[in-house]
Amino acid sequence: AFRAAILRFADDRSAVYEEDGLLVVGPDATGRKVVRAVGSYAALAPNFPGVAVQHFPGRIIAPGFIDLHIHFPQLDVIGSPAEGLLPWLEKYTFPHEARFADAGHARALATFFIDELLRHGVTSALAFATSHPVSVDALMAEAGGRGLRMVAGKVLQDRHSPEGVRDQTEQSLVDTEALIQRWHGVGRLGYAITPRFAPSCSEAQLRGAGELAARYPGVWIQSHVAENREEIAWARQLFPDARSYLAVYEGFGLMRERAIYAHCIHFDDEDRRLMRSTGAAAAVSPTSNLFLGSGFFDYEGAERIGFRYGLASDVGGGTSFSPFHTMLAAYYVGREGQTKPGLSLSPQQLWWQHTAGAAQALGLEGVIGNLQPGCEADFIVIDPGATPLLARKTRLAGSLDELLFSLIVLGDDRAIERVVIGGT
Ligand code: GUN
Ligand code: FE
Repeated sequence: AFRAAILRFADDRSAVYEEDGLLVVGPDATGRKVVRAVGSYAALAPNFPGVAVQHFPGRIIAPGFIDLHIHFPQLDVIGSPAEGLLPWLEKYTFPHEARFADAGHARALATFFIDELLRHGVTSALAFATSHPVSVDALMAEAGGRGLRMVAGKVLQDRHSPEGVRDQTEQSLVDTEALIQRWHGVGRLGYAITPRFAPSCSEAQLRGAGELAARYPGVWIQSHVAENREEIAWARQLFPDARSYLAVYEGFGLMRERAIYAHCIHFDDEDRRLMRSTGAAAAVSPTSNLFLGSGFFDYEGAERIGFRYGLASDVGGGTSFSPFHTMLAAYYVGREGQTKPGLSLSPQQLWWQHTAGAAQALGLEGVIGNLQPGCEADFIVIDPGATPLLARKTRLAGSLDELLFSLIVLGDDRAIERVVIGGT
């Protein structure tokens, strides 16, 4: 059991905060370490006599963050300047990804990548590897060995891609199915069918991806959509019969529950209704959208129509692994197009998007991203005194919203004191 202040989320997305809380973890019927009980220390402690309690005075226990969209091979791409998405892909991203044909390079960077996630308090991620199957093997082996719940996949890109990252239509689908069988459901690992984006995939490749998605309903799907004006114009030109860029994916059977689309910026209401009716979800990546100048996710539109979404770093288009930085960028982005005066997004709503909301988008509500009974015991211990200004500011906080905002604005990896995966 762990004693500290505890942050978790109610079904209505509001935060529940226990100043002096107790989190009791233990194995469920299948042996997974899950939350057995959570609540105030005074009320719960008498029910667990003899249970050893680790006490973290002055610290906050919170659900591990979930990064809903990140590129494992783009560590070295962070902060690369380019005139928007397509030049950035050509100049930096594809050359760096080509290096992942080398299994040794992929393994070394997989270790670095998982270290970096954990250092920032991210305990689960939905990740792109590269088009090389060895990049998936490297990432899965590393994540699995360290007990993370990681969902990842081999990128599909059989056209409009340079030598070195371009794959072959038939072989790419054979490789995808072999990787599903090798990794999906092994321990806490999951597989995601990963067409890079419609412009980089032939119709045959998208059709094959959709067929695999139908045959393996538990497997995830991840791609990019409606990120950038030039990208959208290109997709429209390549698929002139589709109603919209998003509708291309729908036409190939790639929209369903467990399908996560990065960005979803330049949507109309028809697109938003398609998201809602299919159960697909958006990975909102504000640091990336600001860095690459892609645009602003329309939160009011998403709420008005009511489709699922969560927060993501989109490293290396994104500029930081830190969920605090991502939440702050989302706060800025939430201002754009805001029709009512006031806060853009509340700190509780921002935090929810990076934990319980992201879990809901993945179809893993009640499994990860929260600390309610039954949730897997992935959590972080936050030190609100980690840096001098953060310490001053959090001491002055007079409400939960003020405390969470202080962390969102001033927090970074230094505030993540400890990360617990699966109860250990
Ligand atoms: N669209 C296609 N590939 C990518 C990528 O690697 N990053 C981003 N941000 N958008 C993409
Ligand atoms: Fe991306």
